[in-house]
Amino acid sequence: MKDNSRRGFMGKAFGGVGAVGAVASLFAMKKSWDPLPSVKAAGFTTLDMSNYNENEVITEKWRGKPVFVLKYTPEMTAKLDEKQKERTIVIDGSHYMVNIALCTHLGCIPSYEKDNKKFLCACHGGMYDFTGAVTKSPPPRGLDIPPFKIDGNTLVLGEEGTEYKFMKENGITL
Ligand code: FES
Repeated sequence: MKDNSRRGFMGKAFGGVGAVGAVASLFAMKKSWDPLPSVKAAGFTTLDMSNYNENEVITEKWRGKPVFVLKYTPEMTAKLDEKQKERTIVIDGSHYMVNIALCTHLGCIPSYEKDNKKFLCACHGGMYDFTGAVTKSPPPRGLDIPPFKIDGNTLVLGEEGTEYKFMKENGITL
């Protein structure tokens, strides 16, 4: 009788441990198939647009690629023609160029000439204006614009917002 109740107790105890173990292993399995938080965030770069100074190019990083961010001065904004306006991102009344910093010819990184307000690619002499539009070959097109979404005063690279979709649909970027 005593033995039986002990067996009953042991059975329940092991059963309980087994159930806890099964739940724990299910939890572990779920964790292993869920993407890690770092992987979830890896595709996105969030930029606080209040951090940039006018006519100063800052190189950010998105999915391992360099991305130029350039805030225009009021004079630069006033000079924009229609084509340049299409490439420009407007956030909270300020105008920005946000382009992948790789020359569309063979992938060199162009440099910004602050005084002339243009980008020069030293590899084969290609040139871009301050909006990233090509002004001298051999680059076949302007600098590419990464997918972006405007969220208040921040820009999320890697998400496709309305403004980016419009640019893509109208052939302003690939
Ligand atoms: S790689 Fe830029 S001009 Fe050739």
